[in-house]
Amino acid sequence: MPHPCTVVVVGSLNMDLKVRTPRLPVPGETLLGSSFSTDSGGKGANQAVAAARMGVAVAMLGCIGHDAHGDALARSLREAGVAVEALVVDEVQASGIGAIFLMPDGENSIVVVPGANHALTPARVEAQAHRLRQARLVVVQLECPLDSVRRALRIAREAGVTTLLNAAPAQPLDDALLADVDWLVVNEVEAAMLSGLPVDTPAEVEQAAQALRRRGPAQVVVTLGAAGMHHAGPDGTLALPAPRVTAVDTTGAGDTFVGTLAAGLAEGAPLAATFARAQTAAALAVSRLGTQSAMPTRAEVDAFAPAP
Ligand code: RIB
Repeated sequence: MPHPCTVVVVGSLNMDLKVRTPRLPVPGETLLGSSFSTDSGGKGANQAVAAARMGVAVAMLGCIGHDAHGDALARSLREAGVAVEALVVDEVQASGIGAIFLMPDGENSIVVVPGANHALTPARVEAQAHRLRQARLVVVQLECPLDSVRRALRIAREAGVTTLLNAAPAQPLDDALLADVDWLVVNEVEAAMLSGLPVDTPAEVEQAAQALRRRGPAQVVVTLGAAGMHHAGPDGTLALPAPRVTAVDTTGAGDTFVGTLAAGLAEGAPLAATFARAQTAAALAVSRLGTQSAMPTRAEVDAFAPAP
C-alpha cells in the first residue's frame, strides 16, 4: 500500500488560456492583445502544486475531461510530484478552462468554464474517503459542486483530519459547512461577502475575521494582496506585510499562498514562519508570468531576500 499523502487537495483543474491585453475591452470592442499562453491552472490543482513545491506529499482529487487539456493538467501535477491516482477522467464533460485577461499591472480578470470539475460528485469524493482519512490536512475550494466540498469536509472532520477551506470564488456558505472548517482562507472580497461586514480598514478586517470565526472556523486568514495578510486564531491575531515585488502576473497568487500555508500546517511548522513563507511564495509567483509554472520551490522561497 502506498504511503498516505500528507496533504489531500479536493478541487478544480482548469487549463488557463491567457491573453495579455492593455485593458479590458468594452462591449462591442475588439482589442489587439500582445501575447497568448496556456498554463495548467484551476484553484485546486494550483494549491496542490504549490504545496508539493514545498516538499510535502500531496494527492489531488478532482475531475478532468477525456481530452488534451485533461492530459496536460494531469501531466503538470505528476511533474510537480502530486499523486494523481485519485483523479477521475469524466467521459462526458470537457476539462475545465480559465479564460484570463492579464493587464500590464499584473492584475487579471478570469472567467472559468468548470466543465468536468462539476462532475466531481459527492459519490466520487466518497470513493476516495480512505485517502482523506489518512491525510494530515484536507484542502478544498469552491470551484467544484458545493455538496462535494461539504462531503470532503465531513469525511475529514469525522476522521479528526484538519480541514482548510479557501472560500474562492466567493459564494454564500451555510454555518453547517463552516462548522467543519478548521482553517478558513479568504481574500477581502470573500471576507466581506461571508461576514456581511466592510473590510476597508485594518480594524474592519479584524472585525470581519472574528465574525467569521464565530461561524465555525477557529483559524481565519484574510489575504490582502500587496498589503499582506491578517490572521485571527485562538491565540490572538497577527498582521503581516507582504514582501514587495514588481507584479507581472497575479494569477494563482492566492493559490500559491494557500498551498504553501497548507504544506506548513501539515508539517506542523511554527505559524509565524509558515505565514511568512506563504507570503514570500505568493510574492515570487506574482513576479513571474504563468500560473503553476510561476510557483516557486522551497529552496527559492528560503533564498528570497526582499528588496530593501
Ligand atoms: O486562482 C487562479 C485560478 O482561478 C486560475 O488558475 C483559474 O483557472 C481559476 O481557477
